[in-house]
Amino acid sequence: MARRRPATPDVPAAKTPASSGRRRLLGWLWGVLGAIVTFEAIWVVGSFLRPRQRSAEADDALVVAGPVERFVPGTVTAFPGGRFYLACLEDGGFLALDRTCTHLGCTVPWNAETGRFECPCHASSFDIGGSVLAAPAPRPLDIYPVRVENGVVKVDTGRRIRRATFDPAQVARA
Ligand code: FES
Repeated sequence: MARRRPATPDVPAAKTPASSGRRRLLGWLWGVLGAIVTFEAIWVVGSFLRPRQRSAEADDALVVAGPVERFVPGTVTAFPGGRFYLACLEDGGFLALDRTCTHLGCTVPWNAETGRFECPCHASSFDIGGSVLAAPAPRPLDIYPVRVENGVVKVDTGRRIRRATFDPAQVARA
């Protein structure tokens, strides 16, 4: 007669160092996956909000210079906050000129006595329309779009325009 082995009770497998290491690795992987999903969610929400931010920036960039009558033909008005000059040409047209010299970037002041923009760094000069009168500046002063709405002059300082030459089409009129 065969002898029967005594039954062994069902005991859970003992925790080995290898199984707890695997558990820690899985926990770490879940953490990394969670971080990636969170990052993607933030990116998606951010891309939905971005167009609204751009339009807020566009509003900030618009400078209301003032009513047309405020500007005398043949004069230049500085707008330090907007970093530009508003030139009212002899014919009453408007140009918004950037203050940065196109040679090496010095700030160019307007000299009302000579009727020129005169760069203090290397003596370039520009006429009231920003065209080069004396080198070494290689091109006219940059401009910003100007529009006249209901008799009010507005300058879009968010879009600086580099130009090779003066063109009457650049001038805004009432
Ligand atoms: Fe104006 Fe050189 S930076 S002339």
